[in-house]
Amino acid sequence: MGKGGVGKTTMATNIAMKLNSLGAKVHLTTTDPANHINYDLALKAGIDVSKIDEAVVLEEYKNEVRAKAHANNMSPEDMEYIEEDLRSPCTQEIAVFKAFADIVDKAENKIVVIDTAPTGHTLLLLDATQSYHKEVERTQGEISGAVAKLLPRLRNPNETEVVIVTLPEATPVFEAERLQKELQRAGINNKWWVVNSCLALTHTKNPFLQAKAKSEFVWIERVKQLSHGNTALIEWKNI
Ligand SMILES: Nc1ncnc2c1ncn2[C@@H]1O[C@H](COP(=O)(O)OP(=O)(O)OP(=O)(O)O)[C@@H](O)[C@H]1O
Ligand SMILES: [Mg+2]
Repeated sequence: MGKGGVGKTTMATNIAMKLNSLGAKVHLTTTDPANHINYDLALKAGIDVSKIDEAVVLEEYKNEVRAKAHANNMSPEDMEYIEEDLRSPCTQEIAVFKAFADIVDKAENKIVVIDTAPTGHTLLLLDATQSYHKEVERTQGEISGAVAKLLPRLRNPNETEVVIVTLPEATPVFEAERLQKELQRAGINNKWWVVNSCLALTHTKNPFLQAKAKSEFVWIERVKQLSHGNTALIEWKNI
């Protein structure tokens, strides 16, 4: 689920490390500019780590589109239209999605762990596959192979698992629930949920924290319901 420290990067790194220790070839990829410690751990364990710099991939994507337009001898009016298109917030999402798609495409026999917080925009793009493809066609002249391949793979439960990470609190659970619905609308059915930083799993003696721990049960139960029992609870660790 969304931005703001629920533990996506921590979980993504832990999942990558565990898969690696079980003998899988793993590639961990992220748009998170922070969290150097986690990635250093993964790198030391022999995992491929790639960081996607959103500003860099956006520029690359824009230049690619411009180059194609020039190669096709577009009129100045058409170029103006393309430039306008490239200024839309959609372009950033397409550029990042394309960067993920390229990584997945090249990873071949590896398990790719993608650490990301999907926004309404990304999901809208995934949802509206048809118009998304048209969008790409209009600007690029062709659907990029990697992007066209990734969408059906994301929808295939034999190839993709989306793990929703949340906290045992009202707002994060509501947001995660909304995300689950958006994913379903986009044809992606996730199975596993993580409720991170549960005080309820600690043996705190502090009365304030005990009260907080008690308030978590209703949210943990709700996630268990939403996930049909496929919930992993992670304790709050004093780190
Ligand atoms: N179970 C836990 N107990 C205590 N602290 C935790 C736990 N899980 C994560 N943290 C800490 O919470 C902070 C945020 O975690 P993390 O960076 O994984 O979140 P994120 O969802 O990736 O955030 P962002 O949206 O900013 O990318 C980090 O300092 C991390 O060490
Ligand atoms: Mg993160």
